[in-house]
Amino acid sequence: MGFKIIAIDGPTGVGKSTIARQLAGKLDYLYVDTGAMFRCLAWSWAAQGCPESDESLEKLGDQTKIVFENEKVICDDTDVTQEIRTEQISAQASKISRFPSIREVMKKQQRALVEEVRRSESYHGAVLEGRDIGTVVFPAAEFKFYVDASPEIRAKRRLLQLRERKEDADYEKILADLRKRDYQDQNRKIAPLKPAEESIIVDTASLSVEDVLDYLLDCVATEKEISQ
Ligand code: DC
Repeated sequence: MGFKIIAIDGPTGVGKSTIARQLAGKLDYLYVDTGAMFRCLAWSWAAQGCPESDESLEKLGDQTKIVFENEKVICDDTDVTQEIRTEQISAQASKISRFPSIREVMKKQQRALVEEVRRSESYHGAVLEGRDIGTVVFPAAEFKFYVDASPEIRAKRRLLQLRERKEDADYEKILADLRKRDYQDQNRKIAPLKPAEESIIVDTASLSVEDVLDYLLDCVATEKEISQ
């Protein structure tokens, strides 16, 4: 079996990361959280005062060093694993992701990362999760999934997570933030969030993480590949 690419796209808060990480683990594939890459750029961008000129953005994209190390995300030699998960960075990542130069540099880096692993034969394939993996970054991916759920369902799940962690949580605010990010991600001019034409849509409304994982594994095992 040759090296395969699995694209998992979908909106914020739908559980893509959990699903993609577990799927990669089961298949012995490389797992790439492309949202974390945008978050790292947003983190550096915020530190620089959010400049919007093409020149500053290009420099930011080219010079920010992003490394995945085991479960950690290292940006410019700083462990930002926790720091990039704040609401502020979420909003800034969504904002910075609309700039063409940023999208271009991310696409290049994501492709290079996978190419390196393909050549080194260190994994059997790669699972990448994001917004534009099946549509733009790897349009020829062997498997494309679009994982979805309504904003209300995603907001309820997030509310429960925060309550379990005993953190402040307000359903209406969570829902409003989710809707805002959905709007930004779906309506930007370049590489907006949308299912690739041939992607398998997985509505997770009534499915547990295990159900989704079983379904995806079954698709991969039975080679429900996209006919190119
Ligand atoms: O998946 P996430 O919530 O960590 O992603 C953070 C932001 O990054 C998201 O609002 C949009 C952007 N993003 C993107 O534009 N393209 C990707 N492939 C991944 C994330």
